[in-house]
Amino acid sequence: MATAAERDPLELQIRERPVPAHVGIIMDGNGRWAEERGLPRLEGHREGSNSVREVTRTARRVGVQALTLYAFSAQNWSRPADEVAGLMDLLREYLESERQEILENGIRLEAVGELDRLPRFVRAPLEAVREVSAGNRGMVLTLALSYGGQEEIAAAAESLVQRARAGTLPPGPIDVDTFARELWTCGLPPVDLVIRTSGETRVSNFMLWQSAYAEFIFVDTLWPEFRARQFLAAVLEYQHRERRFGLTSAQLPK
Ligand code: IPE
Ligand code: IPE
Ligand code: MG
Repeated sequence: MATAAERDPLELQIRERPVPAHVGIIMDGNGRWAEERGLPRLEGHREGSNSVREVTRTARRVGVQALTLYAFSAQNWSRPADEVAGLMDLLREYLESERQEILENGIRLEAVGELDRLPRFVRAPLEAVREVSAGNRGMVLTLALSYGGQEEIAAAAESLVQRARAGTLPPGPIDVDTFARELWTCGLPPVDLVIRTSGETRVSNFMLWQSAYAEFIFVDTLWPEFRARQFLAAVLEYQHRERRFGLTSAQLPK
């Protein structure tokens, strides 16, 4: 029997067209959500983890293959030390509390970013969930942690140089596919849809390479208030965009 969620008119509409294979979300606005309520910023991050759970479930249910969540940028290390420490604690809590949910939903957890910069108490549960979920085929949930798109591209270039020096890089041109294989996201499909919450209309170093042909949706909603409904509305908007990839409209398959 269909669940209530599956009978939801918005969800039924979405099921009629292809859903984006890979969705990336810049989860922004936690601090402002808390400040508006006179709460410490960390309470906004805490409430934001409820949005993470709800959006992940919804994405999985409608058939998204890959969901990448920008949780902490390479630049976010420069925030006040107590906020950084609080965010690291929340990450650990999230990894411990969501482990079961991730496994029950057939989700494979991945992470991209300068992961060696994360404290051990985050890296250990991250690696544990990654390992235990490695065989799952339902949806890849990638956490972008200490992530920067420029850093990723620089690391890919560095890795190509190293391989050339070591003689393990086959001779030939460095084309787009060769380069993409060196990125932290190797194996993930290109990003089809980037959603950014909180009204900011910038990419802030997120998936610079992978979003070359992504559709962008910017919403005013602050991340702690971005739930299933808002996610489904964004997917529906995406489904009504015409993606041309450089072609003319007339050239596209009907
Ligand atoms: C996004 O919310 C979460 C992180 C960057 C870690 P913010 O903390 O940036 O919230 P605002 O933008 O200050 O409201
Ligand atoms: C982007 O948000 C990073 C994450 C959502 C993790 P920021 O709040 O750090 O971005 P800026 O500083 O407003 O560009
Ligand atoms: Mg922000």
